[in-house]
Amino acid sequence: MNHFKDAAKTWDNDRTRQRNRAFANALAPIIAPFQQNLRLLDFGCGTGLLSEPFAADARELLGIDSTKEMLDQFDQRYENLDHARSFCVNLEEQPQALKGKEFDIVISAMAFHHLKNPLAVLDVLKSALSPSGKICILDLDQEDGSFHADPKAMGVHHFGFSVETLNSWARELALKLDHQLVHLIEKNERTYNVFLAVFSQ
Ligand SMILES: C[S@@+](CC[C@H](N)C(=O)[O-])C[C@H]1O[C@@H](n2cnc3c(N)ncnc32)[C@H](O)[C@@H]1O
Repeated sequence: MNHFKDAAKTWDNDRTRQRNRAFANALAPIIAPFQQNLRLLDFGCGTGLLSEPFAADARELLGIDSTKEMLDQFDQRYENLDHARSFCVNLEEQPQALKGKEFDIVISAMAFHHLKNPLAVLDVLKSALSPSGKICILDLDQEDGSFHADPKAMGVHHFGFSVETLNSWARELALKLDHQLVHLIEKNERTYNVFLAVFSQ
């Protein structure tokens, strides 16, 4: 059962809009030098909230997600943008799906904690990166497992990621890592940190 199939209907709300706006603000200075020529990949794009501020000026936008219902809304959002496309694929099951493609910037918000093997997916994203490209992951800093109401039913495989884990991925894949905490999510009367991890070659 894919939790996001049902969640898609109500995914765009004040909470997710506000969160993605804050994420996009953190990404803006990294993306700015590429504008006009930008080939942008949004992995685990959902309905496309994160890429929205960058979409119009990009040369190409590809949204990848394994949930068709999320991508239906992505397609609706960008129906008037010829250079925006979606691709319904589970990148863990089909790592060859990006073969022959190249991107300047890969962005991903709140998707990596749903992956069984995030390091393997990071390696797949690296293989589709231009030499000066960057992979920008926004996700939960290591948490105590209380962020999701029902982690198992919601397809959660990781309770966020510590900076040590992200550093170990960078070492493993011979990538440079720039890590910072960029946002706070208030939920369950608690505060959860969100990091921005920028991987480059
Ligand atoms: C928490 S949602 C985030 C959506 C969007 N990035 C946002 O922040 O609004 C995670 C998304 O990752 C997608 N996803 C999870 N595992 C995936 C995989 N292996 N391949 C592609 N997409 C995946 C889900 O379908 C879901 O739409």
